[in-house]
Amino acid sequence: MKEINSQLISVLSTGKTGFPGSSFDKEAAENALRFHKSLPQYARTELVSLRIAATELGVREVLLKDESTRFGLKAFKGLGGSYAVFRILCEMLGMDPGTAVFSDFMTAENRAKCSDVVFVTATDGNHGKGVAWAAKLFGCKAYVYMPAGSAEARRKAIEDAGAEKAVISDLNYDNVVQYAGQLSKENGWTLIQDTAWDGYEKIPHWIVEGYLTMGAEIIEQLDGKIPTHVFVQAGVGAMAGGMIGYFANMFSDCEPVFAVAEPSTVACLYESAKAGDGERHSIEGDPVTIMAGLNCGTPCSITWPVIRDRAGFYISCRDEVSENAMRRLAGSSSEQERIISGESGAVTFGALMDICKDDIIRTEMGIDADSVILLISTEGDTDPEGYNRIVG
Ligand SMILES: Cc1ncc(COP(=O)(O)O)c(C=O)c1O
Repeated sequence: MKEINSQLISVLSTGKTGFPGSSFDKEAAENALRFHKSLPQYARTELVSLRIAATELGVREVLLKDESTRFGLKAFKGLGGSYAVFRILCEMLGMDPGTAVFSDFMTAENRAKCSDVVFVTATDGNHGKGVAWAAKLFGCKAYVYMPAGSAEARRKAIEDAGAEKAVISDLNYDNVVQYAGQLSKENGWTLIQDTAWDGYEKIPHWIVEGYLTMGAEIIEQLDGKIPTHVFVQAGVGAMAGGMIGYFANMFSDCEPVFAVAEPSTVACLYESAKAGDGERHSIEGDPVTIMAGLNCGTPCSITWPVIRDRAGFYISCRDEVSENAMRRLAGSSSEQERIISGESGAVTFGALMDICKDDIIRTEMGIDADSVILLISTEGDTDPEGYNRIVG
């Protein structure tokens, strides 16, 4: 294990510790994609080749999946929330998730049954918005709770998306998740959380499978190309673990290098990997970062083993990493390569910019003129005020 520090990032190089398979595979992704395609709002998001950046950074290609346009929600998160709602309702109505589509839920009888279902969730913004939107789509209700310090614009966006109520609590993220769990028990609501822990794994597993629609679209868009490096950002690591597991399965003959980026103040996966005992470790307290979607202190139980065994690099990033990338992506001289990328969306591109400036880190990660780097800009300007403050 090796740790290399530069001005704005720290990179932990672990090597891969094992080779387990994961259930985040082709079939799971195809099922999620088939469901999402049945939604009237479905449109594939773009995979943009950042040619100017690739030249500047000295690599063959930088490919960026732009999730700012997903379902009009400005983030990828609605993929997970909607797929979990679908799977929960399939189970409730006795439908086969392998064949059911959205229109099956639109009969008067099924609408009436769905109207009795109440979901509750905790969120730093994007997941709650996705759940609120999906609940409304299926005619269910959603109550959404947010950690202290959440932006009012994010809270309002959740109500606008369809929540019965969205509330900013005075709790940190981990505690607000527990609070939502308690409310679900007290009121008989269904907890729909985008992280898993011992005893609560089925619904988060569906959420991660929902994210795989991004992976299935990327495979189509790569058109046979195989990336040499995949960078994913992480809060609890549900999305990161799902995507790493999926790409490891899809590219098993030529596995890319996987790197996970987190805010330096709440780098729970970085610290878990650094501990070297294979276990999950939490960051306590009330960490502060502009990357609201990544401000989560405890790794997800179902995706941590995938990340631990397949990611070779963990990158701890100061907020400036994301700010620099947001400005760079917004200000590209090519209109095609101009991307609205929010605080949590831009961090992997920012990390790449810093890595490419540092010969030691770059060499350690094997990034050279032949590298094809895949990034996911997971959100657009989900907090427009914050975005404008940074990008101007
Ligand atoms: C925009 C954005 N990117 C990335 C993530 C990280 O996802 P995860 O918590 O699964 O690591 C989130 C989580 O909310 C998010 O909102």
